[in-house]
Amino acid sequence: MLNSTSASSHTPVLLSETLKALAVQPGGRYIDCTLGSAGHAFSIMEHASPGGQLLGIDADPKAIELARKKLNAFRDAVLLVNDNFVNLQSICIKHDFFPVHGILLDLGLSSMQLEGSRGFSFQHDDPLDMRFNPEQKITAADIVNTSPEERLANIIYTYGEEIHSRRIAREIINARPVKTTLQLAQVIENAMGRRGKIHPATKTFQALRIAVNHELEHLESVLKQAVELLGYEGRLVVISYHSLEDRIVKQFMQKESRGCICPPETPVCVCGHTPSLRIINKKVITPSTTEVGHNPRSRSAKLRAAERIITQGDSYVTTEDHNFLTLAKSGGWRRPALLEKIRTVFLAA
Ligand SMILES: C[S@@+](CC[C@H](N)C(=O)[O-])C[C@H]1O[C@@H](n2cnc3c(N)ncnc32)[C@H](O)[C@@H]1O
Repeated sequence: MLNSTSASSHTPVLLSETLKALAVQPGGRYIDCTLGSAGHAFSIMEHASPGGQLLGIDADPKAIELARKKLNAFRDAVLLVNDNFVNLQSICIKHDFFPVHGILLDLGLSSMQLEGSRGFSFQHDDPLDMRFNPEQKITAADIVNTSPEERLANIIYTYGEEIHSRRIAREIINARPVKTTLQLAQVIENAMGRRGKIHPATKTFQALRIAVNHELEHLESVLKQAVELLGYEGRLVVISYHSLEDRIVKQFMQKESRGCICPPETPVCVCGHTPSLRIINKKVITPSTTEVGHNPRSRSAKLRAAERIITQGDSYVTTEDHNFLTLAKSGGWRRPALLEKIRTVFLAA
């Protein structure tokens, strides 16, 4: 058996909990939208073999390179795509990779990115970059050095939940140009002073990273796309690392697991909303103290999982039947021949 972790690689967070929540089974098809160094993906493939398949996506070309090496033993069953998960549906359509048994999102950034000279951390001095994909246009330095004061303060407040955002934004404006991570951390420390263990720049760094990579907008979009790609009882598993992400995931799963979503004062349902998910863990799953001891970066992790259901009237039907009926009738994007194939492949699994 290959070694699934090494001293220099990213340690996958909540690994056994993730495999359980995904209900990984031999012969299953899975998508890892945040491949990283393939820690989760490797274990998914171990449990999905024989016959399992995996589509791995990462915006960072370096992550894809690392993951390709790690997943070499499974190379015939794995497809790796360097793209943003905001394009999930089009990637799956292009590669004919749906419906699937499970989709994983392990949000945020990997140890490899945090420790590399990518500008994510103020533990070492690097250019203020923070892009997951180096081909993106806007860097953190662009935001810091060109945003008007009010916009900068809003970014720091909204994405960092930093109540001192205005003071920090003003100091940054006065110190421009701010080009490196340590320079920015120092400007913020000068403005705020230093109290307690947490560095005063922590929230601002989080805010800039979220803004550079459009993380919250992309998360909202990928969740909706993921539900459409899951087969009946397929699992959606999301690990988040801060409250802004977790709130989006929690609210999405709650909404999608409800029937009517009309405001309470509406006398008769007018929304026609039907549930598409069943929440698996009512209580959010967090790492054990042992895991946090071994891997301190796991301390803020929260795992939520849900299962795909389809309702028609009062009865449950399979995703395939539902898609077949509605999309075939409406002439949707799935060709009838392809739909037949989906039905055969998935129902045989
Ligand atoms: C926490 S790491 C994943 C680690 C991985 N589960 C493992 O065990 O090695 C998150 C990864 O998601 C990628 N990522 C973040 N946002 C993304 C997006 N919108 N599209 C594609 N990849 C993204 C990052 O580049 C990073 O490699």
